[in-house]
Amino acid sequence: MSLRKVTASAPGKVTLFGEHAVVYGEPALVTSIGRRVYVTAELRDDNRVKIVASDLQVPGVTVTFADDELVVETDYGRTLSAIAYLKTAIEVASKYLGRSRGVNVFVRSEMPVGAGLGTSAAVTVATVLAYTTALGYELDKREIAKLSWEVEKTVQGVASPMDTSITTFGGVIKVRLLGSNNYEVREILRCCDLPIVIGYVEREAKTKDLILKVRGLKERYAGIVEDIIKTIGMVVEEAEKALLNNDLNSLGELMNINQGLLDALGVSNKRLNDLIYAARAAGALGSKVTGAGGGGCVIALAPGTQERVEVAMKLSGGLTMKTSLGGLGAVVHTAESSTP
Ligand code: MEV
Repeated sequence: MSLRKVTASAPGKVTLFGEHAVVYGEPALVTSIGRRVYVTAELRDDNRVKIVASDLQVPGVTVTFADDELVVETDYGRTLSAIAYLKTAIEVASKYLGRSRGVNVFVRSEMPVGAGLGTSAAVTVATVLAYTTALGYELDKREIAKLSWEVEKTVQGVASPMDTSITTFGGVIKVRLLGSNNYEVREILRCCDLPIVIGYVEREAKTKDLILKVRGLKERYAGIVEDIIKTIGMVVEEAEKALLNNDLNSLGELMNINQGLLDALGVSNKRLNDLIYAARAAGALGSKVTGAGGGGCVIALAPGTQERVEVAMKLSGGLTMKTSLGGLGAVVHTAESSTP
């Protein structure tokens, strides 16, 4: 039986340790956050797909497309890229189920899009979950995560399964790529009460471009960059132990080491580094880029100094964000049946 209208949501994320190296088979530690993306899928009687992205924290926009024709009256690049994930999510899920239906998709985000908090993965996962549930299927979380990874790879050309896994499963997880189409996910903690401050500066580069930048560096300096990537993997293993022992001093030191390695990979920039060093000077035990870099978000571990660190980041030109860590992954909220 098809359900007429389903709302699902999925959380954003911060990568605690291991971004970029995760693309090359090293493990990463990543946590969900308390801000979510909500997607409502409402089945239509025709084969058209209409997307209403009225709150993607860029000016609202409505687009309609049927077959391959996309009608859009905006030039807001970030909205368009979020829409590419939505459109591809519906295509990939339809192909997997061997069934497709026109659908109205409404999107609402509690996070800024494209900031490095995993909004594209959250949009993707919530869309796959809402759409497949509306069609009457109950896919398990592994299927949702895998389809969503396929969507990210299709849209970005290259992606690890990290973002789509954390937004599907929630909690704090360790992710490792095992091959081009295989990976493992292990839950480390369900909840996470690390005293983290998130800072944000405008992004200058897209995730895809940053991944390609690291790949280019690796091609030119294979031995050096491979060692940096392996060392990030070692940092992740140590960080897992520190996290489980609640050893904040070691976690802070390891964040700083991870940041030095990310900087060596060329994904940090002056504005991010300004926030990172301001946070440390204000008392943070450690601070680093979180996500792809090139602008976007940093995290600082700041037990007892969260307010000072927030002020320092703001004075250095950043915005800050308060949110809880860990907790619920993707969920269905409401489902309305078309048959009485
Ligand atoms: C992006 O949030 C994290 C990267 O490691 C890319 C990926 O894992 O797909 C840079």
